[in-house]
Amino acid sequence: MEFHHFKRTFRKIKKTPSSIIGMFSPRKISMAVSYMFEMSEYEFVHRLTGCSEKKFFRLLEELNSQKKFFNALDKKHKKYLKDSIWERFQPWFRILYILIRIQKPEKMVETGTFSGLSTSIILLAMKKNRGGHLYSIDLPIRNPKKAKKDWILEPLPPGTHPGFAIPNVLRSRWELIEGDSGKNLPKLLEKLGEIEIFFHDSDHSYDHMMMEFGTAWPYIKSRGLLLADNVDWNQSFKDFGKKVGHKQNQKFGFGGILKH
Ligand SMILES: C[S@@+](CC[C@H](N)C(=O)[O-])C[C@H]1O[C@@H](n2cnc3c(N)ncnc32)[C@H](O)[C@@H]1O
Repeated sequence: MEFHHFKRTFRKIKKTPSSIIGMFSPRKISMAVSYMFEMSEYEFVHRLTGCSEKKFFRLLEELNSQKKFFNALDKKHKKYLKDSIWERFQPWFRILYILIRIQKPEKMVETGTFSGLSTSIILLAMKKNRGGHLYSIDLPIRNPKKAKKDWILEPLPPGTHPGFAIPNVLRSRWELIEGDSGKNLPKLLEKLGEIEIFFHDSDHSYDHMMMEFGTAWPYIKSRGLLLADNVDWNQSFKDFGKKVGHKQNQKFGFGGILKH
């Protein structure tokens, strides 16, 4: 995995001078510096699950060795998008995989799928667990002319649906609900009853994040997890943690709260 990060960085350097400037933009530099002072990936997972260091590294190694899975995901991704999965790979995918392996959720809900990278990581962990079902909510196919330039609303490639890159062997544990999470999340949770994990990666505006956290929280079982990406974009995750009186943890802009 680390090798792929290196390859991705090297490829960017080989491109245009503007991309090099982009790599060293003040925002990216300040992000990199703040990550240096954050807790380690192991500590993040330990705080949420109590897992030992030995188990953490065993599961990390397990993910790193899934060459067949990564090749299948990359092949489907490249069929519709120009870049490889390594251009979009998030360091917190590792944390996500390990959390699912440890928590072994029976029912998990995710908002924001796009091509299906985080979704595939979750489904791979569920396959290894030999149990679990994932429900994802994402907006249906968008008109590229109407879609915002913002990458949160990056248009899906023509003729595809959210999760188009998910390897076929992982799909039996997955259900996609196409629509706005504001409308569909309450209905889905009502249908499911209790869930073990909720993961937000859709619209990262303050109000939308607060709405999703507040909607999901009562359905999360005791010892279950509230997870979210891009929690450093606004104060919602911190505010929500305070509101429910639970400690929130952050790593790489990825947040986690363990429900007592
Ligand atoms: C950052 S992408 C998700 C990336 C994905 N988790 C991954 O790892 O590749 C954000 C997604 O949120 C979806 N989204 C944005 N607003 C939404 C909303 N109101 N309801 C449901 N999905 C939404 C977008 O359609 C987009 O696919």
